[in-house]
Amino acid sequence: MPAHSTETLEQDKGAQRAPRPAPAKLELAGIGKEFRTKRTVTQALSGIDLTIGDGEFVSLIGRSGCGKTTLLRMLAGLLSPSSGQILVEGRSLWNGAKVDSSVVSQLGVVFQEANLFPWYSVADNISLPLRLRGDGKEERRERAHELAELVGLKGFENSYPRELSGGMRQRVAIARALSIRPKLLLMDEPFGALDALTRERMNLELQRIALATNATVVFVTHDITEAVFLGDRVVHLTPRPGRIRQVRSIDFDRPRSIDVQTEPAFGAIVRDLRHALDEEG
Ligand SMILES: Nc1ncnc2c1ncn2[C@@H]1O[C@H](COP(=O)(O)OP(=O)(O)OP(=O)(O)O)[C@@H](O)[C@H]1O
Ligand SMILES: [Mg+2]
Repeated sequence: MPAHSTETLEQDKGAQRAPRPAPAKLELAGIGKEFRTKRTVTQALSGIDLTIGDGEFVSLIGRSGCGKTTLLRMLAGLLSPSSGQILVEGRSLWNGAKVDSSVVSQLGVVFQEANLFPWYSVADNISLPLRLRGDGKEERRERAHELAELVGLKGFENSYPRELSGGMRQRVAIARALSIRPKLLLMDEPFGALDALTRERMNLELQRIALATNATVVFVTHDITEAVFLGDRVVHLTPRPGRIRQVRSIDFDRPRSIDVQTEPAFGAIVRDLRHALDEEG
């Protein structure tokens, strides 16, 4: 037997022993979306390719109307893509216009508005997804307390949404999204309605939570500083149709403190991204 065959054989054996590489947490391949009415067709997104790894935090930025929410809604199983494929841990989220509900049930979603139920306590709001899937009362109570603590709301479990500040309500929404231990956390401008100081504090909280839970996060924001502060990568979408213009890796160590924002390297990335956005006019 020629030497190279033996080598191949050895390599094959090696290949068999090696663990199979885990599939990407999230894979977008050729995603496009068009909205059709009787008279108009809007090409909202086109040719979006993106692979997101386990535990990665990806920020999505772009001008108003470039398709950020549309993309997130497709990832959340709320809107079907016109083309392309979305895989969550290798499983297809959409089969044509039909969504795989077993995949959707493993996603956590947070929107700009907290959308809490006013007549439910904080604990009941947090554990609602667990009730919907049939978890027992004791289990729900325990998990709600654990999550209230994680998002800094210990002691508020029995409060009602009207008794909370905007930032606290948003933390309840995050805790609720985390209750099912989602494979993927999808967030669409979750802090858009908050004042600057509260927002800064929420950025630190979210970073802490993401590190503590090893969550994989797709985070949409208008705010470039927020995108760079939170992201392992920042994806910049351009409009009409929405396409990926650039993907920027952000390498600052974690946990990052707010002071990282005063570092020249941080400022340079923010400036670059801002220029790129400004060029779009
Ligand atoms: N249901 C819909 N029907 C028709 N067109 C839509 C629909 N939803 C979104 N669009 C269009 O798709 C494009 C992208 O909208 P989208 O809401 O995704 O933008 P965005 O990036 O989230 O903007 P913003 O930063 O203002 O939230 C826009 O041109 C919008 O008009
Ligand atoms: Mg939007």
